[in-house]
Amino acid sequence: MSIFEQVESEVRSYCRAFPVVFDRAEGCYIYDENGNKYLDFFAGAGALNYGHNNPYIMEKVSEYIKHGGILHALDMHTVAKRTFLEDFEEKILKPRGLDYKVMFPAPTGTNAVESAFKLARKVKGRQTIFAFQGAFHGMTLGALAATSHAYPRAASGTPLLGITFMPYPYGFNNSFDTIAYMENVISDDHSGSEVPAAIVVETVQAEGGIIPVSVEWLRRLRDLCDRYGILLIVDDIQIGCGRTGEFFSFEKAGIVPDMVTLSKSIGGAGLPMSLLLLKPELDIWGPAEHNGTFRGNQLAFVAADAALDVLENDKLLDHVKKVEKFLVKYVEENVLPIDSRIEYRGRGLIYGIDFTALDPSGALAGKISKKCFEKGLIIERSGRNDTVLKILPPLVITEEELKAGLDIIANSAKEIIK
Ligand SMILES: Cc1ncc(COP(=O)(O)O)c(C=O)c1O
Repeated sequence: MSIFEQVESEVRSYCRAFPVVFDRAEGCYIYDENGNKYLDFFAGAGALNYGHNNPYIMEKVSEYIKHGGILHALDMHTVAKRTFLEDFEEKILKPRGLDYKVMFPAPTGTNAVESAFKLARKVKGRQTIFAFQGAFHGMTLGALAATSHAYPRAASGTPLLGITFMPYPYGFNNSFDTIAYMENVISDDHSGSEVPAAIVVETVQAEGGIIPVSVEWLRRLRDLCDRYGILLIVDDIQIGCGRTGEFFSFEKAGIVPDMVTLSKSIGGAGLPMSLLLLKPELDIWGPAEHNGTFRGNQLAFVAADAALDVLENDKLLDHVKKVEKFLVKYVEENVLPIDSRIEYRGRGLIYGIDFTALDPSGALAGKISKKCFEKGLIIERSGRNDTVLKILPPLVITEEELKAGLDIIANSAKEIIK
Protein backbone atom coordinates (compact mmCIF):
# COMPACT_ATOMS: atom_id res chain seq x y z
CA MET A 1 0.00 0.00 0.00
CA SER A 2 2.83 2.41 0.86
CA ILE A 3 3.82 2.89 -2.80
CA PHE A 4 0.52 4.70 -3.36
CA GLU A 5 1.12 7.03 -0.43
CA GLN A 6 4.76 7.62 -1.35
CA VAL A 7 4.48 8.03 -5.08
CA GLU A 8 0.91 8.73 -6.12
CA SER A 9 -0.29 12.33 -5.96
CA GLU A 10 -2.42 13.56 -3.08
CA VAL A 11 -5.16 14.20 -5.63
CA ARG A 12 -6.17 10.52 -5.51
CA SER A 13 -9.71 10.14 -4.25
CA TYR A 14 -11.81 6.94 -4.40
CA CYS A 15 -8.93 4.83 -3.08
CA ARG A 16 -9.22 6.74 0.18
CA ALA A 17 -12.80 5.54 0.70
CA PHE A 18 -11.99 1.95 -0.26
CA PRO A 19 -8.46 1.40 1.10
CA VAL A 20 -7.60 -2.04 -0.26
CA VAL A 21 -5.75 -3.16 -3.39
CA PHE A 22 -8.16 -4.52 -5.98
CA ASP A 23 -7.13 -7.28 -8.30
CA ARG A 24 -9.88 -8.91 -10.30
CA ALA A 25 -13.57 -8.50 -10.96
CA GLU A 26 -16.55 -10.36 -12.32
CA GLY A 27 -20.12 -9.19 -12.84
CA CYS A 28 -21.18 -7.20 -9.78
CA TYR A 29 -18.20 -8.27 -7.67
CA ILE A 30 -14.65 -7.02 -7.19
CA TYR A 31 -11.92 -8.97 -5.36
CA ASP A 32 -8.96 -7.49 -3.55
CA GLU A 33 -5.47 -8.97 -3.67
CA ASN A 34 -6.20 -11.05 -0.56
CA GLY A 35 -9.24 -12.63 -2.19
CA ASN A 36 -11.83 -10.61 -0.23
CA LYS A 37 -15.03 -10.16 -2.22
CA TYR A 38 -16.95 -6.87 -2.51
CA LEU A 39 -20.34 -6.24 -4.03
CA ASP A 40 -20.02 -3.22 -6.31
CA PHE A 41 -22.77 -0.59 -5.95
CA PHE A 42 -20.51 2.06 -7.50
CA ALA A 43 -19.90 0.47 -10.92
CA GLY A 44 -17.01 2.72 -11.91
CA ALA A 45 -19.18 5.80 -11.26
CA GLY A 46 -21.54 4.55 -13.97
CA ALA A 47 -18.93 3.20 -16.40
CA LEU A 48 -19.81 -0.44 -15.78
CA ASN A 49 -23.49 -0.79 -16.64
CA TYR A 50 -22.82 -4.23 -18.15
CA GLY A 51 -20.88 -5.42 -15.10
CA HIS A 52 -17.19 -6.14 -14.70
CA ASN A 53 -15.68 -8.33 -17.43
CA ASN A 54 -19.04 -9.10 -19.02
CA PRO A 55 -18.31 -12.51 -20.61
CA TYR A 56 -19.95 -11.70 -23.98
CA ILE A 57 -18.14 -8.36 -24.29
CA MET A 58 -14.81 -9.79 -23.16
CA GLU A 59 -15.09 -12.63 -25.69
CA LYS A 60 -15.44 -10.07 -28.50
CA VAL A 61 -12.54 -8.01 -27.14
CA SER A 62 -10.26 -11.09 -26.86
CA GLU A 63 -11.19 -12.22 -30.39
CA TYR A 64 -10.19 -8.78 -31.65
CA ILE A 65 -6.84 -8.92 -29.84
CA LYS A 66 -6.13 -12.47 -31.07
CA HIS A 67 -6.93 -11.34 -34.63
CA GLY A 68 -4.27 -8.61 -34.32
CA GLY A 69 -6.91 -5.90 -34.62
CA ILE A 70 -5.45 -2.40 -34.90
CA LEU A 71 -5.36 -0.71 -31.49
CA HIS A 72 -4.46 2.85 -32.32
CA ALA A 73 -5.56 4.65 -35.45
CA LEU A 74 -6.18 8.30 -34.47
CA ASP A 75 -9.53 9.03 -36.12
CA MET A 76 -8.82 7.02 -39.25
CA HIS A 77 -11.42 4.66 -40.69
CA THR A 78 -11.28 1.22 -39.12
CA VAL A 79 -13.47 -1.85 -39.26
CA ALA A 80 -14.07 -1.58 -35.50
CA LYS A 81 -15.27 2.02 -35.76
CA ARG A 82 -17.44 1.28 -38.79
CA THR A 83 -19.11 -1.67 -37.07
CA PHE A 84 -19.81 0.42 -33.98
CA LEU A 85 -21.23 3.36 -35.98
CA GLU A 86 -23.44 1.09 -38.10
CA ASP A 87 -24.83 -0.72 -35.07
CA PHE A 88 -25.23 2.43 -33.00
CA GLU A 89 -27.26 3.97 -35.81
CA GLU A 90 -29.34 0.83 -36.43
CA LYS A 91 -29.95 -0.23 -32.82
CA ILE A 92 -30.00 3.03 -30.89
CA LEU A 93 -30.59 6.09 -33.05
CA LYS A 94 -32.98 4.88 -35.78
CA PRO A 95 -35.49 3.06 -33.55
CA ARG A 96 -35.80 6.29 -31.54
CA GLY A 97 -36.23 8.45 -34.64
CA LEU A 98 -32.95 10.29 -33.94
CA ASP A 99 -30.71 11.46 -36.79
CA TYR A 100 -27.75 12.66 -34.73
CA LYS A 101 -24.27 12.79 -36.15
CA VAL A 102 -21.61 11.27 -33.92
CA MET A 103 -18.45 13.09 -32.90
CA PHE A 104 -15.59 11.38 -31.07
CA PRO A 105 -14.13 14.22 -29.00
CA ALA A 106 -11.41 12.47 -26.90
CA PRO A 107 -11.44 9.63 -24.39
CA THR A 108 -13.31 10.90 -21.37
CA GLY A 109 -16.60 12.55 -20.44
CA THR A 110 -15.31 16.04 -19.85
CA ASN A 111 -14.00 16.08 -23.45
CA ALA A 112 -17.53 15.57 -24.79
CA VAL A 113 -18.77 18.45 -22.65
CA GLU A 114 -15.94 20.71 -23.88
CA SER A 115 -16.83 19.96 -27.51
CA ALA A 116 -20.53 20.57 -26.91
CA PHE A 117 -19.83 23.98 -25.37
CA LYS A 118 -17.32 24.92 -28.08
CA LEU A 119 -19.76 23.95 -30.82
CA ALA A 120 -22.75 25.68 -29.21
CA ARG A 121 -20.76 28.94 -28.95
CA LYS A 122 -19.53 28.58 -32.54
CA VAL A 123 -23.02 27.88 -33.91
CA LYS A 124 -24.76 30.66 -32.00
CA GLY A 125 -21.96 33.23 -31.89
CA ARG A 126 -22.78 33.80 -28.20
CA GLN A 127 -20.56 33.03 -25.22
CA THR A 128 -22.88 32.31 -22.32
CA ILE A 129 -24.11 28.85 -21.43
CA PHE A 130 -26.63 28.25 -18.65
CA ALA A 131 -25.81 25.39 -16.28
CA PHE A 132 -27.61 24.51 -13.05
CA GLN A 133 -26.84 24.73 -9.36
CA GLY A 134 -25.70 21.28 -8.27
CA ALA A 135 -24.41 20.35 -11.76
CA PHE A 136 -21.36 18.22 -12.48
CA HIS A 137 -19.95 18.26 -16.01
CA GLY A 138 -16.24 17.52 -15.62
CA MET A 139 -12.87 18.86 -14.54
CA THR A 140 -11.28 20.49 -17.61
CA LEU A 141 -11.62 24.27 -17.54
CA GLY A 142 -14.61 24.68 -19.86
CA ALA A 143 -16.59 21.87 -18.24
CA LEU A 144 -15.42 22.84 -14.75
CA ALA A 145 -16.89 26.29 -15.34
CA ALA A 146 -20.27 24.50 -15.55
CA THR A 147 -19.59 22.33 -12.48
CA SER A 148 -21.06 24.04 -9.45
CA HIS A 149 -19.09 22.55 -6.54
CA ALA A 150 -16.87 25.22 -4.97
CA TYR A 151 -14.07 22.81 -3.99
CA PRO A 152 -12.85 21.71 -7.45
CA ARG A 153 -13.69 25.14 -8.89
CA ALA A 154 -11.32 26.78 -6.41
CA ALA A 155 -8.50 24.55 -7.67
CA SER A 156 -8.75 25.94 -11.21
CA GLY A 157 -6.43 28.85 -10.41
CA THR A 158 -7.96 30.89 -13.20
CA PRO A 159 -11.33 32.52 -13.77
CA LEU A 160 -13.99 30.08 -14.94
CA LEU A 161 -15.84 31.94 -17.61
CA GLY A 162 -18.85 31.77 -19.88
CA ILE A 163 -21.34 30.05 -17.58
CA THR A 164 -24.34 31.46 -15.72
CA PHE A 165 -25.83 29.17 -13.07
CA MET A 166 -29.59 28.84 -12.91
CA PRO A 167 -31.73 27.31 -10.14
CA TYR A 168 -32.28 23.55 -10.49
CA PRO A 169 -35.75 22.56 -9.28
CA TYR A 170 -34.78 21.18 -5.89
CA GLY A 171 -35.03 22.31 -2.26
CA PHE A 172 -35.59 26.05 -1.91
CA ASN A 173 -35.58 26.41 -5.72
CA ASN A 174 -38.69 24.24 -5.80
CA SER A 175 -40.60 27.00 -4.04
CA PHE A 176 -40.82 28.97 -7.30
CA ASP A 177 -41.12 28.29 -11.02
CA THR A 178 -37.51 27.88 -12.21
CA ILE A 179 -38.45 27.81 -15.92
CA ALA A 180 -40.39 31.07 -15.56
CA TYR A 181 -37.39 32.54 -13.72
CA MET A 182 -35.05 31.56 -16.59
CA GLU A 183 -37.44 33.00 -19.11
CA ASN A 184 -37.47 36.24 -17.17
CA VAL A 185 -33.64 36.38 -17.18
CA ILE A 186 -33.50 35.59 -20.90
CA SER A 187 -36.19 38.01 -22.02
CA ASP A 188 -35.32 40.98 -19.76
CA ASP A 189 -32.61 43.04 -21.45
CA HIS A 190 -31.86 44.49 -18.05
CA SER A 191 -31.25 41.07 -16.44
CA GLY A 192 -27.50 41.44 -16.89
CA SER A 193 -27.27 38.14 -18.75
CA GLU A 194 -27.14 37.68 -22.52
CA VAL A 195 -29.34 35.09 -24.19
CA PRO A 196 -27.30 31.89 -23.76
CA ALA A 197 -25.95 29.86 -26.68
CA ALA A 198 -27.06 26.71 -24.86
CA ILE A 199 -28.51 25.29 -21.68
CA VAL A 200 -26.80 22.16 -20.35
CA VAL A 201 -28.72 19.84 -18.04
CA GLU A 202 -28.48 16.46 -16.31
CA THR A 203 -31.99 15.00 -16.15
CA VAL A 204 -30.93 13.36 -12.91
CA GLN A 205 -28.15 15.26 -11.17
CA ALA A 206 -25.91 12.44 -10.07
CA GLU A 207 -22.96 14.07 -8.29
CA GLY A 208 -25.40 16.75 -7.14
CA GLY A 209 -27.23 14.23 -4.90
CA ILE A 210 -29.39 12.03 -7.20
CA ILE A 211 -31.98 14.62 -8.06
CA PRO A 212 -34.29 13.87 -10.99
CA VAL A 213 -36.33 16.52 -12.76
CA SER A 214 -39.90 15.84 -13.84
CA VAL A 215 -40.80 15.13 -17.47
CA GLU A 216 -42.99 18.28 -17.43
CA TRP A 217 -40.03 20.43 -16.38
CA LEU A 218 -37.87 18.94 -19.14
CA ARG A 219 -40.57 19.56 -21.74
CA ARG A 220 -40.88 23.16 -20.61
CA LEU A 221 -37.10 23.53 -20.78
CA ARG A 222 -37.13 22.24 -24.39
CA ASP A 223 -39.93 24.65 -25.22
CA LEU A 224 -38.07 27.57 -23.63
CA CYS A 225 -34.97 26.76 -25.71
CA ASP A 226 -37.08 26.54 -28.88
CA ARG A 227 -38.78 29.87 -28.29
CA TYR A 228 -35.51 31.75 -27.71
CA GLY A 229 -33.23 29.98 -30.21
CA ILE A 230 -31.13 28.30 -27.50
CA LEU A 231 -29.49 24.89 -27.93
CA LEU A 232 -30.41 22.22 -25.39
CA ILE A 233 -27.54 19.95 -24.33
CA VAL A 234 -28.39 16.88 -22.24
CA ASP A 235 -25.40 15.51 -20.36
CA ASP A 236 -26.11 11.76 -20.25
CA ILE A 237 -22.56 10.80 -19.33
CA GLN A 238 -23.48 9.18 -16.01
CA ILE A 239 -27.13 8.28 -16.48
CA GLY A 240 -27.25 7.37 -20.16
CA CYS A 241 -26.77 3.92 -21.70
CA GLY A 242 -29.81 2.39 -19.99
CA ARG A 243 -29.24 3.60 -16.42
CA THR A 244 -32.72 5.15 -16.12
CA GLY A 245 -34.47 2.24 -17.84
CA GLU A 246 -34.33 4.01 -21.22
CA PHE A 247 -31.19 4.20 -23.35
CA PHE A 248 -31.26 8.01 -23.14
CA SER A 249 -32.52 9.62 -19.96
CA PHE A 250 -34.67 12.16 -21.86
CA GLU A 251 -36.75 9.60 -23.78
CA LYS A 252 -39.54 9.48 -21.20
CA ALA A 253 -40.11 13.22 -21.68
CA GLY A 254 -40.45 12.74 -25.43
CA ILE A 255 -38.01 15.58 -26.14
CA VAL A 256 -35.05 15.67 -28.52
CA PRO A 257 -32.02 17.63 -27.29
CA ASP A 258 -29.83 19.43 -29.84
CA MET A 259 -26.75 17.72 -28.44
CA VAL A 260 -26.19 14.79 -26.10
CA THR A 261 -22.97 13.88 -24.33
CA LEU A 262 -22.29 10.20 -23.63
CA SER A 263 -19.29 8.52 -22.03
CA LYS A 264 -18.69 6.08 -19.15
CA SER A 265 -20.79 2.99 -20.06
CA ILE A 266 -20.80 3.67 -23.80
CA GLY A 267 -17.35 2.01 -23.75
CA GLY A 268 -19.02 -1.29 -22.79
CA ALA A 269 -16.33 -2.73 -20.55
CA GLY A 270 -15.13 0.37 -18.71
CA LEU A 271 -12.82 1.34 -21.58
CA PRO A 272 -12.37 5.06 -22.26
CA MET A 273 -14.79 6.38 -24.85
CA SER A 274 -16.81 9.53 -25.23
CA LEU A 275 -19.36 10.72 -27.77
CA LEU A 276 -21.02 13.96 -28.66
CA LEU A 277 -24.27 13.46 -30.53
CA LEU A 278 -25.32 16.52 -32.49
CA LYS A 279 -28.15 17.44 -34.80
CA PRO A 280 -26.82 17.34 -38.40
CA GLU A 281 -27.43 21.05 -39.02
CA LEU A 282 -25.10 21.91 -36.11
CA ASP A 283 -22.17 20.09 -37.66
CA ILE A 284 -20.31 23.18 -38.81
CA TRP A 285 -16.90 21.98 -37.63
CA GLY A 286 -14.02 22.33 -40.04
CA PRO A 287 -11.75 19.27 -40.36
CA ALA A 288 -9.43 18.97 -37.34
CA GLU A 289 -10.92 22.07 -35.73
CA HIS A 290 -11.27 19.92 -32.61
CA ASN A 291 -8.56 17.28 -32.72
CA GLY A 292 -6.82 14.79 -30.43
CA THR A 293 -4.65 11.67 -30.43
CA PHE A 294 -6.95 9.38 -28.49
CA ARG A 295 -10.29 9.83 -30.21
CA GLY A 296 -10.52 6.30 -31.50
CA ASN A 297 -9.91 3.65 -28.87
CA GLN A 298 -10.43 0.59 -31.05
CA LEU A 299 -10.88 -1.82 -28.15
CA ALA A 300 -13.55 0.50 -26.81
CA PHE A 301 -15.32 0.42 -30.18
CA VAL A 302 -15.33 -3.38 -30.09
CA ALA A 303 -16.57 -3.46 -26.49
CA ALA A 304 -19.13 -0.71 -27.17
CA ASP A 305 -20.49 -2.63 -30.13
CA ALA A 306 -20.74 -5.85 -28.11
CA ALA A 307 -22.48 -3.92 -25.33
CA LEU A 308 -25.26 -2.97 -27.75
CA ASP A 309 -25.86 -6.72 -28.23
CA VAL A 310 -25.95 -7.26 -24.46
CA LEU A 311 -28.46 -4.45 -24.09
CA GLU A 312 -30.72 -6.15 -26.64
CA ASN A 313 -30.11 -9.83 -25.86
CA ASP A 314 -30.39 -9.45 -22.09
CA LYS A 315 -33.44 -7.14 -22.45
CA LEU A 316 -31.56 -4.88 -20.09
CA LEU A 317 -33.92 -1.90 -20.27
CA ASP A 318 -36.87 -4.09 -19.15
CA HIS A 319 -34.65 -5.62 -16.49
CA VAL A 320 -33.79 -2.18 -15.07
CA LYS A 321 -37.48 -1.26 -14.80
CA LYS A 322 -38.22 -4.55 -13.05
CA VAL A 323 -35.44 -4.38 -10.48
CA GLU A 324 -36.18 -0.69 -9.86
CA LYS A 325 -39.57 -1.75 -8.46
CA PHE A 326 -37.84 -4.23 -6.18
CA LEU A 327 -35.37 -1.57 -5.05
CA VAL A 328 -38.05 1.01 -4.27
CA LYS A 329 -40.14 -1.51 -2.33
CA TYR A 330 -37.11 -2.62 -0.34
CA VAL A 331 -36.08 0.94 0.54
CA GLU A 332 -39.61 1.91 1.55
CA GLU A 333 -40.07 -1.19 3.71
CA ASN A 334 -36.61 -1.54 5.23
CA VAL A 335 -34.63 1.70 5.05
CA LEU A 336 -37.15 4.53 5.54
CA PRO A 337 -38.56 2.99 8.77
CA ILE A 338 -35.08 3.26 10.38
CA ASP A 339 -35.64 7.02 10.80
CA SER A 340 -38.48 9.15 9.49
CA ARG A 341 -36.02 11.85 8.38
CA ILE A 342 -34.37 9.61 5.76
CA GLU A 343 -35.36 10.52 2.20
CA TYR A 344 -34.79 8.75 -1.10
CA ARG A 345 -34.93 9.72 -4.77
CA GLY A 346 -33.95 8.30 -8.12
CA ARG A 347 -34.86 6.65 -11.39
CA GLY A 348 -34.05 3.28 -12.89
CA LEU A 349 -30.92 2.01 -11.18
CA ILE A 350 -29.60 5.27 -9.80
CA TYR A 351 -31.06 5.99 -6.36
CA GLY A 352 -29.93 8.16 -3.51
CA ILE A 353 -30.61 7.63 0.17
CA ASP A 354 -30.46 11.07 1.69
CA PHE A 355 -29.35 11.50 5.31
CA THR A 356 -29.19 15.33 5.15
CA ALA A 357 -32.01 15.84 7.66
CA LEU A 358 -30.21 13.62 10.18
CA ASP A 359 -26.79 15.17 9.69
CA PRO A 360 -26.14 17.90 7.10
CA SER A 361 -22.37 17.68 7.70
CA GLY A 362 -22.15 14.34 5.89
CA ALA A 363 -20.34 12.65 8.79
CA LEU A 364 -23.20 10.22 9.41
CA ALA A 365 -23.47 9.20 5.73
CA GLY A 366 -19.67 8.80 5.76
CA LYS A 367 -19.86 6.42 8.71
CA ILE A 368 -22.62 4.42 7.04
CA SER A 369 -20.70 4.03 3.77
CA LYS A 370 -17.60 3.03 5.74
CA LYS A 371 -19.62 0.42 7.63
CA CYS A 372 -21.01 -0.85 4.30
CA PHE A 373 -17.47 -1.30 3.02
CA GLU A 374 -16.50 -3.26 6.15
CA LYS A 375 -19.44 -5.54 5.39
CA GLY A 376 -18.31 -6.02 1.77
CA LEU A 377 -20.23 -3.36 -0.17
CA ILE A 378 -18.67 -0.63 -2.29
CA ILE A 379 -20.94 2.41 -2.25
CA GLU A 380 -20.11 6.09 -2.84
CA ARG A 381 -21.73 9.29 -1.63
CA SER A 382 -22.82 12.42 -3.46
CA GLY A 383 -24.70 15.68 -2.96
CA ARG A 384 -23.97 18.68 -0.76
CA ASN A 385 -21.43 17.58 1.89
CA ASP A 386 -21.75 14.01 0.55
CA THR A 387 -24.88 13.37 2.60
CA VAL A 388 -26.46 11.03 0.04
CA LEU A 389 -25.61 7.34 -0.34
CA LYS A 390 -25.54 6.61 -4.04
CA ILE A 391 -26.92 3.27 -5.20
CA LEU A 392 -25.41 2.72 -8.65
CA PRO A 393 -24.95 -0.99 -9.32
CA PRO A 394 -24.24 -2.57 -12.72
CA LEU A 395 -27.52 -2.87 -14.64
CA VAL A 396 -27.04 -6.63 -14.99
CA ILE A 397 -27.50 -7.05 -11.23
CA THR A 398 -29.93 -9.76 -10.14
CA GLU A 399 -32.62 -9.20 -7.50
CA GLU A 400 -30.69 -11.48 -5.13
CA GLU A 401 -27.51 -9.41 -5.53
CA LEU A 402 -29.47 -6.19 -5.16
CA LYS A 403 -31.08 -7.51 -2.00
CA ALA A 404 -27.71 -8.54 -0.59
CA GLY A 405 -26.38 -4.99 -1.08
CA LEU A 406 -29.54 -3.33 0.23
CA ASP A 407 -29.43 -5.58 3.33
CA ILE A 408 -25.92 -4.28 4.00
CA ILE A 409 -27.10 -0.66 3.60
CA ALA A 410 -30.10 -1.19 5.90
CA ASN A 411 -28.06 -3.00 8.57
CA SER A 412 -25.22 -0.47 8.44
CA ALA A 413 -27.65 2.48 8.67
CA LYS A 414 -29.40 0.84 11.66
CA GLU A 415 -26.12 0.20 13.48
CA ILE A 416 -24.74 3.71 12.89
CA ILE A 417 -27.94 5.65 13.56
CA LYS A 418 -28.50 3.78 16.82
C1 LIG B 1 -22.88 14.10 -15.69
C2 LIG B 1 -21.39 14.03 -15.88
N1 LIG B 1 -20.83 14.78 -16.83
C3 LIG B 1 -19.50 14.75 -17.05
C4 LIG B 1 -18.67 13.95 -16.29
C5 LIG B 1 -17.19 13.96 -16.55
O1 LIG B 1 -16.77 12.73 -17.07
P1 LIG B 1 -15.26 12.28 -16.90
O2 LIG B 1 -15.01 12.07 -15.45
O3 LIG B 1 -15.16 11.00 -17.68
O4 LIG B 1 -14.43 13.35 -17.48
C6 LIG B 1 -19.22 13.16 -15.29
C7 LIG B 1 -18.38 12.31 -14.42
O5 LIG B 1 -18.75 11.83 -13.39
C8 LIG B 1 -20.62 13.21 -15.07
O6 LIG B 1 -21.20 12.49 -14.11
